[in-house]
Amino acid sequence: MLGMSSTANATAVAPRRKRIIVAMTGATGAILGIKLLIALRNLNVETHLVTSKWAGETIKYETDYHAANVTALADFSYNINDMAAAISSGSFRTDGMIIVPCSMKTLASVSTGLGSDLIARAADVMLKERRRLVLVTRETPLSEIHLRNMLEVTRAGAIIFPPVPAFYIKSDDVEVMINHSVGRMLDLFDLDIGNIERWQGWTKGDK
Ligand SMILES: Cc1cc2nc3c(=O)[nH]c(=O)nc-3n(C[C@H](O)[C@H](O)[C@H](O)COP(=O)(O)O)c2cc1C
Ligand SMILES: *[C@@H]1O[C@H](CO)[C@@H](O)[C@H](O)[C@H]1NC(C)=O
Ligand SMILES: *[C@@H]1O[C@H](CO)[C@@H](O)[C@H](O)[C@H]1NC(C)=O
Repeated sequence: MLGMSSTANATAVAPRRKRIIVAMTGATGAILGIKLLIALRNLNVETHLVTSKWAGETIKYETDYHAANVTALADFSYNINDMAAAISSGSFRTDGMIIVPCSMKTLASVSTGLGSDLIARAADVMLKERRRLVLVTRETPLSEIHLRNMLEVTRAGAIIFPPVPAFYIKSDDVEVMINHSVGRMLDLFDLDIGNIERWQGWTKGDK
């Protein structure tokens, strides 16, 4: 068959590593973004990182890491004001983007399509290219404005993933809870590091 000829192979694009954009913003839960970056590194996924100014502050306040430590976990990182970065264009191929944690401010700018910083722009690119976009939105309680913005981005194709613990894993170890949340985020990109407990129905003796 003509289509199966070596000419077709010669023009095929060489396979590349899976490539995911990770953005971190100034909502509480910086450790979730850090653990996700570590997991992606272990999975040999190419990561492209953008952090907001307030992500830098929460990283410092909430964890043992500094912004530079987090940047070192990613393959590529960009300044949030660099609108000429590769990830600012749909022609740069990626397998999706996750904003973790995602503030209500960044949610609002994604929902309005403002594109005013590199995080909002890259997210807008995901939506227009119909690529996977996950927002680990963190706030409580939620106002009508927050809920409306979540509905808006969901309708545009994004996935809202609030970092809510799965109490059914019955652990009092916060790291187990974090690993479980990160594992469920990876599920949305069809990735698995195999370190989370998955529900198998009531286990014998538990009920
Ligand atoms: C310690 C700390 C915790 C915060 N937690 C949240 C939060 O959970 N959710 C949220 O929407 N904003 C939170 N904020 C406020 C955001 O940092 C603020 O709205 C900021 O403008 C977000 O900008 P960014 O999305 O560009 O990072 C927090 C701020 C600080 C200092
Ligand atoms: C962050 O980087 C500094 C300087 O390289 C290093 O001393 C420190 O141990 C790192 N912290 C973490 C949590 O990796
Ligand atoms: C969480 O996951 C990491 C990465 O797989 C693993 O090294 C660590 O031991 C896990 N922590 C717990 C408490 O299970």
